[in-house]
Order: sequence, then C-alpha cells, then structure tokens
Amino acid sequence: MIEMTGKVVVVAAGGSGIGRATALKLGAAGAAVAIVDLDGEAAAAVAAAIEAAGGSASGHAADCADLAQLDRFVAEVGERHPRVDGFLGNVGMPNPHGIDGITEEQWQKTNDVNLKSNFFLTQKLLPLMRASGQGGAIVFTASAAGLVASRTTPLYTMTKAGLIGLAKSLAVHLADEGIRVNAVCPGPVRTPMLPGFMERGEEATDEVAELYSSRVPLGRVAAAEEVADAIVYLLSDLAGYVTGVPFPVDGGYVAQ
Ligand SMILES: NC(=O)c1ccc[n+]([C@@H]2O[C@H](COP(=O)([O-])OP(=O)(O)OC[C@H]3O[C@@H](n4cnc5c(N)ncnc54)[C@H](O)[C@@H]3O)[C@@H](O)[C@H]2O)c1
Repeated sequence: MIEMTGKVVVVAAGGSGIGRATALKLGAAGAAVAIVDLDGEAAAAVAAAIEAAGGSASGHAADCADLAQLDRFVAEVGERHPRVDGFLGNVGMPNPHGIDGITEEQWQKTNDVNLKSNFFLTQKLLPLMRASGQGGAIVFTASAAGLVASRTTPLYTMTKAGLIGLAKSLAVHLADEGIRVNAVCPGPVRTPMLPGFMERGEEATDEVAELYSSRVPLGRVAAAEEVADAIVYLLSDLAGYVTGVPFPVDGGYVAQ
C-alpha cells in the first residue's frame, strides 16, 4: 500500500464517485484529507467514514466555481493545517451534446465548473502548498475525452483538453518549486455521473455502462477505485519523477 502518513491532501468534488474513492484511499494511506463538495453533507459523510476507520479528515461545503466560496474553503483548510502537500482538482460535469443550439450560458457554466474551479483552487491553495517548503503534487481529473475526440460533446472535450494543457504548463511553471502536476484521464467509470454523458438519468446506468463497455478494449467500464489508485500514486512520493503527464486509466480506450 502507498504510504501518505504526514501528508495533507485536498480533494475537490470528493463527495461522490472518483473523488470519494480517492479521499477514502488517501485517508486509509494515512493522509489528513480535506474534502470539499457542492454537496456539503456528502463531503461530511466521506470525512466521517475516514475518521471512523481511524484516519483524519474534514468535510467542507462549497461551489468550487464560486471564487468567494473558494476563499472561504481555503481559509477553513488553513485554520486546520499550516500546509498542504497534495491537491486533487476533480470538479467537473458532463455537458450538453453537439454545437448547434449551445447557449452562451451553457458554454460559460461548462467552463466555470470544469476549468475555472480547478484553476482557481490551484491558485488559492498554492500558498499553503509552498508553506511546506518541500514541494507538492497536484492532479486534475481530465478525461480520455480530453486526449481523443468525444463524438457527442465538443464542449466536454474542449474543457478536459484544457485541463491537460493546464497540467502540462503548470508542471513546467512550478517545477523549480518541486511541485508536480499531472492529469488523470479516465475512460468510462461507473459513478452517478456516467449516464449523464449520454444525457440519461441514473436509472439508465447499467444500459449506458454496457454501451461504453463495447467501446473499451478491456470490455468493461472502470470502478471509481481503479481511477483512485492511479490518482493516489500520482499524489504520492512514488511518482516523484512524474510531472506534466496525461495519465490514461481507460481500459485501452485511447490506444485504439
Ligand atoms: N464517470 C466517468 O465516466 C468519468 C470519466 C472521465 C472523467 N470523469 C471526471 O471525473 C470527475 C468526477 O466525476 P465522477 O464520475 O466521480 O462524478 P460524480 O457525479 O460521482 O461526482 C461528482 C461530484 O462533483 C460534485 N460537484 C459538482 N459540481 C461541483 C462544484 N461546482 N463544486 C464542488 N463540487 C461539485 C458533485 O456534488 C459530486 O459529488 C469529473 O471531473 C468528471 O468529468 C468522469
């Protein structure tokens, strides 16, 4: 098991799915985890689960696309922890399909949730990360759809490719401070979000998972825990020489 004892890690959008699975694994590996989510109760429940298992965690409510709420959240983290060692920028949403009929409002919301949130959280957490004097690690949850085209949603591909670009540029920009930045690129993952990629509701999860499975060389969708394992690795010292990398966890999807 990867050792994270003594590290403080922030998980954004950690109340469900990939973020939740990552927070739980980080807690089990010994990290103190600060979980923030739009759904504050979900974040608190994940923190409670980590603490019940003997770990250390706090849950926080914030809309990460709102800069004033980000300031409040980062202040809460700063009150608990003098420094932060790692950050998962996992905030994202599926987007409407196509280009015809996309409104400026939809375009802006997509950019706010998928890009602005993770960009400004990084900016606001950097002073706490620099406070350790020992570098740190940042991971963004991009997508396989940021590496290759999404046939249905150009907006999603645009923002996830943007996150990959942000990870690469920040990796170089922050390298001399010992701060590594990578982007995990999941293929389809069985989370509450999955049916949303086909503009379906949660009741269609099995059907959508089966459809995606047929497009993945390994023949199935991922469990959130499988993506979390890759994220924990990238946040850990085991990945000490890995930076600026888009890291597919996609059952071979982008290799096709
Ligand atoms: N599920 C997939 O197939 C898949 C594939 C590739 C990439 N991703 C990406 O993984 C990330 C996590 O998705 P998931 O599948 O675990 O979804 P999920 O629906 O299980 O969890 C998403 C979480 O994000 C939170 N959230 C949404 N908007 C927020 C905001 N503005 N501020 C704070 N929290 C917010 C939600 O409350 C929820 O708890 C997303 O960035 C998504 O784009 C998912």
